[in-house]
Amino acid sequence: MRRIGVLTSGGDAPGMNAALRAVVRVALDRGMEVFGVYEGYEGLIHGGEMIRPLGWNDVGGILQAGGTILGTARSQAMRTPEGRHKVVRHALECGLEGLVVIGGDGSLSGAQVLYDEWPDHVRVLAENGMPEAQEWGERRFHIVGLPGSIDNDLFGTDMSIGADTALHTVIRNLDQLVSTASAHQRTFVVEVMGRNCGYLALMSAIATGSDWVLIPEEEMALRWHNQMVESLRRGRAMGRRHETVLFAEGARHTDGLPISSEELQRILASRLGVDVRVTVLGHVQRGGSPTAFDRVLATRLGAAAVERLAGADEGTAPAMMGLQANRPAATPLPEVVEKSRGVQQQLAKVSVEGGVQPAVGGMLQCHRPMHHRERLVIRARQPRQMMHVFHLVSL
Ligand code: F6P
Repeated sequence: MRRIGVLTSGGDAPGMNAALRAVVRVALDRGMEVFGVYEGYEGLIHGGEMIRPLGWNDVGGILQAGGTILGTARSQAMRTPEGRHKVVRHALECGLEGLVVIGGDGSLSGAQVLYDEWPDHVRVLAENGMPEAQEWGERRFHIVGLPGSIDNDLFGTDMSIGADTALHTVIRNLDQLVSTASAHQRTFVVEVMGRNCGYLALMSAIATGSDWVLIPEEEMALRWHNQMVESLRRGRAMGRRHETVLFAEGARHTDGLPISSEELQRILASRLGVDVRVTVLGHVQRGGSPTAFDRVLATRLGAAAVERLAGADEGTAPAMMGLQANRPAATPLPEVVEKSRGVQQQLAKVSVEGGVQPAVGGMLQCHRPMHHRERLVIRARQPRQMMHVFHLVSL
């Protein structure tokens, strides 16, 4: 393969730059040319100056930077056949033979549709007299995805690029809230990102010893209000001076209606008679310099993506390179797309005793114990049980 493109798409995630740097440098080392596509798929839709060659020095000094130097977007045009037709035209014009897409589930879904439709768009362009399309013929366009999302909601990787950094950000903020919460004997309701996935909320709840957590994957009991209130009430009776109640932004009632911070605040204040404050961490979770874990993960996966493109032949299907059992591994893109949508259902079905399904992060291992958090807290007070509890809830 002589020339590839690379883009970052969807919500930015710390480590996207590190992945980009690895893609560019490994590709150059392999004798390929690399074109950076700016502003996600929008760059391919507009073409021209939005697709430019990247050299070794263009990606220097970005390893530690949050965000993405290519820019990103949630492209609406990419959802339309007309938009994807333009993508194919501009990719052909630039002589791209492959593409690395760094993004979340929406971005990787777009990549799969592009791959599927590629031959049809090329045919139409060839019929309309485009020389590059006529020359292209029946060849396949090669696509490799990289999981870039703080949500950690992608099938095919134990961790997505950016999730570890976001988790550290959440934990840092929670630790700071706990000190003031305790000083004032207050309860803090904290909203954490995650539309469909409670990874950040659940992991930060474990890592900070939070008192209650609500996540989208949980099948809520009808009387969950009561359970939460009773548990917190007992904690106070045992001498606790504060609580933190975490909820993922996608947490829902049994009827599917969203749970809001105002609702939690009202319930806790009226039924516990405590002073309740709300903190929405918001986009602060997406920022910042990537952790060592994310830098290394992004670099390993970026290198693996280029290796896959370098070795691609007509039989090579589009895939996402993810981390599985601490090794980069390819998962077919259709499987990633389909099963990422199904992670929620998988989580609802699985039990700790029933074993852990691979490659949906550490969620499965610790989701169930959190249902029994109250029991764990009580057991944790018994020294002989401490190690057991530690192993039960550790990742
Ligand atoms: O997908 C990452 C994410 O940060 C989600 O956790 C959040 O729901 C969403 O993006 C926010 O998107 P935007 O920045 O477009 O509002």
